[in-house]
Amino acid sequence: MRQDIIDLIRTSSGENLQYFHQGSEEFLQTQNGVRYPVDGNILCFPETVTLTGNNKNYQKMYDRFSAFYDLATKGYALLKNGNEKNRLVQYLNLLNIENGDKVIEISIGTGRNIKYLNSAADYFGVDISLGMLKKCQRKMKRLHREITLIQAEAESLPIRDESFDVIFSAGGFNFFNDPGKAVNEMLRIAKSGVKILITDETEKLRLKYSKNEFYKANKVRQPAEYLPDFCKNIEYKEICDGDLYVLTFCKP
Ligand SMILES: C[S@@+](CC[C@H](N)C(=O)[O-])C[C@H]1O[C@@H](n2cnc3c(N)ncnc32)[C@H](O)[C@@H]1O
Repeated sequence: MRQDIIDLIRTSSGENLQYFHQGSEEFLQTQNGVRYPVDGNILCFPETVTLTGNNKNYQKMYDRFSAFYDLATKGYALLKNGNEKNRLVQYLNLLNIENGDKVIEISIGTGRNIKYLNSAADYFGVDISLGMLKKCQRKMKRLHREITLIQAEAESLPIRDESFDVIFSAGGFNFFNDPGKAVNEMLRIAKSGVKILITDETEKLRLKYSKNEFYKANKVRQPAEYLPDFCKNIEYKEICDGDLYVLTFCKP
């Protein structure tokens, strides 16, 4: 594992980690001997085994749904926007990724956004669902794209402060147990001046499917309500015919 990746990771309570590769076993370990397994290049943080509330439910749901996720989302984009790229670039084009940037997607899922982004940047992805992360890992291999994947909660990122040049989250915000905590974590790991982007489904889209049991249980959040006062350049707009909102804001 790259040393700069080991240097960027720490436990969610702030402890340093060392990397070990013993036989076929790979793991990160704290000074007190607590081990964090590396499962085929996915860094696993055990907090994700004892999730509660929404996070527990959606982890279970996405582990099950991971095999069909790409097919379902591609089909939807095909119907609504002609193809997947036409839909995703409506928010991805707002990211302005430069060569060599450290980029992280929070709630990365199967990584469908990554293939439309600058391949000369250094990518990381966080998700609670190991099923989605494994799918993502296989896809990135096929696309010859290097990526570091971390199984952790958006609300508790095992990452050092001020580590990233680009931070975004697509499709996860309406699910998070604690959206305010997730926003604070994104701000914490952003370098100074960095733009953060959050996109998810709007209330308008949910109303179209108001009889659907899944949508009834899952409420739409107004992400701007969770931003601390110090955020700068806050912009909100709707895209994809009002299906999605995009909120961007900067860390001072
Ligand atoms: C609709 S999918 C979006 C996946 C991907 N970003 C995309 O645009 O296709 C939502 C993802 O959010 C993840 N997720 C939900 N709650 C989370 C949390 N609290 N922390 C991290 N990931 C979470 C789910 O496991 C799932 O993979």
